[in-house]
Amino acid sequence: MMNSIDNMTEYVFDKTQVNKGTAIILGSGLGDFADQLDNAVTIPYKDIPGYPKPTVEGHAGEFIYGFYNGYPILAAKGRFHYYEGYDFNTVTIPVRLINKLGLDHLIITNAAGSTNPKNLPGNLMLVTGHLDCTFRHGWEQPPVYTKPPYYSESLLNLVRKSAKKNEIELKEGVYSWTQGPAYETPAEVDLFRSWGADAVGMSTVPEIITAAEFGLPVITLSTLTNFAAGITNQPLTHQEVIETADLVKPKFKQLLESLIEELNR
Ligand code: HPA
Repeated sequence: MMNSIDNMTEYVFDKTQVNKGTAIILGSGLGDFADQLDNAVTIPYKDIPGYPKPTVEGHAGEFIYGFYNGYPILAAKGRFHYYEGYDFNTVTIPVRLINKLGLDHLIITNAAGSTNPKNLPGNLMLVTGHLDCTFRHGWEQPPVYTKPPYYSESLLNLVRKSAKKNEIELKEGVYSWTQGPAYETPAEVDLFRSWGADAVGMSTVPEIITAAEFGLPVITLSTLTNFAAGITNQPLTHQEVIETADLVKPKFKQLLESLIEELNR
């Protein structure tokens, strides 16, 4: 396995020479950010030897390496999920590759459902904690992690500062990872909420765990695209998720840009 990560890393390095800067994993409908990078080099995942292929609508499959205001950025457009049948080692390949290349920090983005009536669809949420509600280790109530190595107050403060500067309303909360592929039931949402979840989504937590293992500083931003099932009586659809992500794009992009400036200050 490590050998194949080495090969993938070598391939991406050959194409880009990237060995520092900011890595960004762009989630459902959030891929546009990468299209504005200067001197961009696109690397389709399918060209990387041994790299998995994303299968989900709204997720492109490519790395884009380029510059934002002169700062090197490696963006992963599209990621891998448990529900696609990939295991933990496979869904974390992008993070392991990013780490091996030597990037300085990782910004993870995702679309998530809000389980907190105070956080509305269309809001951005800074993830300040997570819990694993996949039950991959058993049926026990999962703990909420809010401390280093997963969360650093100084990094969280950079995001708060970036939001404030741009007058972007930034919610904060705990992200819970669910296995999918179906959205949760109202009963599951109630339970996860009682355990401290503010949002539910099907990615990100393996990426946070893996980044933390490497000591790679990580920041997670969620676009709240819908109320989770049962929070309102409206049914939710993948279409709604994509549409809301689309509406939030300009605000999300502005926050990312400002955050990149802060990270490089
Ligand atoms: N649940 C799980 N994943 C999601 C949701 C949701 O409500 N919205 C966007 N991704």
